[in-house]
Formats: sequence, structure tokens, C-alpha cells
Amino acid sequence: MRIDVISLFPEFVAQCAAFGVVGRAGERGLLSLHGWNPRDYAEGNYRRVDDRPCGGGPGMVMLIDPLRASLQAARAADPAPARVVYLSPQGVPLTQAKVRELAARERLILLCGRYEGIDERLIQAEVDEEISIGDYVLSGGELAAAVVVDAVARLREGVLGDAESAVQDSFEDGLLDCPHYSRPIEHELGSVPEVLLSGNHAHIAAWRRMQALGRTWQRRPDLLDEASLSKADRKLLATYKAELAAGDGGKADTVPAVTASEPGPVRAKS
Ligand SMILES: C[S@@+](CC[C@H](N)C(=O)[O-])C[C@H]1O[C@@H](n2cnc3c(N)ncnc32)[C@H](O)[C@@H]1O
Repeated sequence: MRIDVISLFPEFVAQCAAFGVVGRAGERGLLSLHGWNPRDYAEGNYRRVDDRPCGGGPGMVMLIDPLRASLQAARAADPAPARVVYLSPQGVPLTQAKVRELAARERLILLCGRYEGIDERLIQAEVDEEISIGDYVLSGGELAAAVVVDAVARLREGVLGDAESAVQDSFEDGLLDCPHYSRPIEHELGSVPEVLLSGNHAHIAAWRRMQALGRTWQRRPDLLDEASLSKADRKLLATYKAELAAGDGGKADTVPAVTASEPGPVRAKS
């Protein structure tokens, strides 16, 4: 996958993508990241990329022409068609579903604003989609672009060692992930739940499902509202709530009486 980033600080995004699995994806050629600086395409001695807003008011606005020339250069660097995404607090919220959609593409161009933002005419003419990483305002689009690069790259085939690990992540099936444990089994901070040591894969799957349902109910009830739970899911959640009410904080080892095939997938309502 190729991602081009148009930014006054393209090195920022490149640095963020230089570590861990995403960094290795770059080294292995699974992700190719390219930066374009509008200042390199600005004219005049001062290579001006911004100017005062028409109508007055505070701040500066990024100029059309340096951004447009950068976009043209980025597009021309590869014949594959690219989707142009402007990172903006006014965009659609970035969700895991949106990340999957972007990861299915072969090329993205990420446009990062600064100051008060970008001249609206460039957005209207060149941008396919605006994406926000949350209801807060950053000083520039680079952090948001780095978030998109990271979230998208890890979903590309071959990037994660075990592709299953992404499938089990929070939001993938409409729920939060279950808790995870490793060695030592006994620690002064507590013991690993016994069911995870049982070797009974059906019990382990049921317990994990129950934890995922319970956590989602406790932490993100809005997600549960959107999910359609199977009968088995509702039974697991009821057990979780009962254990919580009994005072074990929903962490007990109890494995509800469900068969291995019962915990069906939770699908987000379309
Ligand atoms: C200071 S912000 C401009 C905010 C703009 N005046 C507004 O209120 O919509 C500068 C740049 O940061 C980026 N940005 C800020 N917050 C963001 C967010 N929540 N998601 C994505 N990009 C963001 C955008 O690229 C934006 O052009």
C-alpha cells in the first residue's frame, strides 16, 4: 500500500511510522510512505504557504496553490488512483470500520492542515473525504495522519505476525476486547483466572466472550446498543452481571453453561 502525506512537517508522520510493526511493514515493502511539503511548491523568496483570512479574524489560512501543486506531484508519482483524505475536526469520525475501508485501498493521500485550516475551495475541488480523529482540535493534521497510517497499516495483509490478533481486537466485532494475562501465573498483583489454564478451548472462548460482553456493557454501553446479541451472548452477559452483583467484579472464573458453538458473533446493526 502506498500512502502520501502532504504536510508542512512530513517528517513528523514518517517518524511516527518508523517503529514497531508499522516500521517493519515499511522495511518489508508492505507500506510505502511518502512526504510532500507544500513549501517546496510555494513561489517567491519567502515560499509562502499561508495568508490572512478573507473577511478578517485571527489566524492564517493555508493557500490553495502550494497544496494543489503538492497534490499534483503526489498523484503523478504513481499511476494508481488515490483517495484524498483531509484530516479535519469537521470530518467523519475515524472508526475501526472506516479504518478497514481505508486499508482495503491501494493508495491514499493524506492532507494535513495547519493554522485555521485550508482554503475551502481546495477542499471542495480536491478532497474525497474528511476524517476526524476525535471531537477536539489539534494544532495540525500530522498527528491525525499518523493515527490513520498506524491503524490502516496494521490491517494490511502480512503486517501483523498473526492476522487473527487484529480480528480479536476491540471494535472488530462491535465489542471491546476481553482482558489478557501472561506469566507468571501467580503474582503479588493477583492470579491468572483458572479457566485460562484449563486447556478447555470451549470454556476459554466462552469466558473471553463473557468478559468482552461485560466490559462493553460496563465501559461502552453505546456499543452494545448498536450490536445485535445472540441468545448465547445474552446468557453470557446475564452471567457476568450476576457475578458482578455477587461482588466478584465480573472477574470470576465461572464458565457459563453454554456450548462451544453457542457464543455467536455480535454483528453491528447496519
Ligand atoms: C487548528 S486546526 C484548524 C481547526 C479549524 N479552524 C476548525 O475549527 O475546524 C489545524 C489543522 O489541524 C488538523 N486537525 C485538528 N483537529 C483535528 C482532528 N480532531 N482530527 C483531524 N485533524 C485535525 C486539521 O488538519 C486542521 O486543518
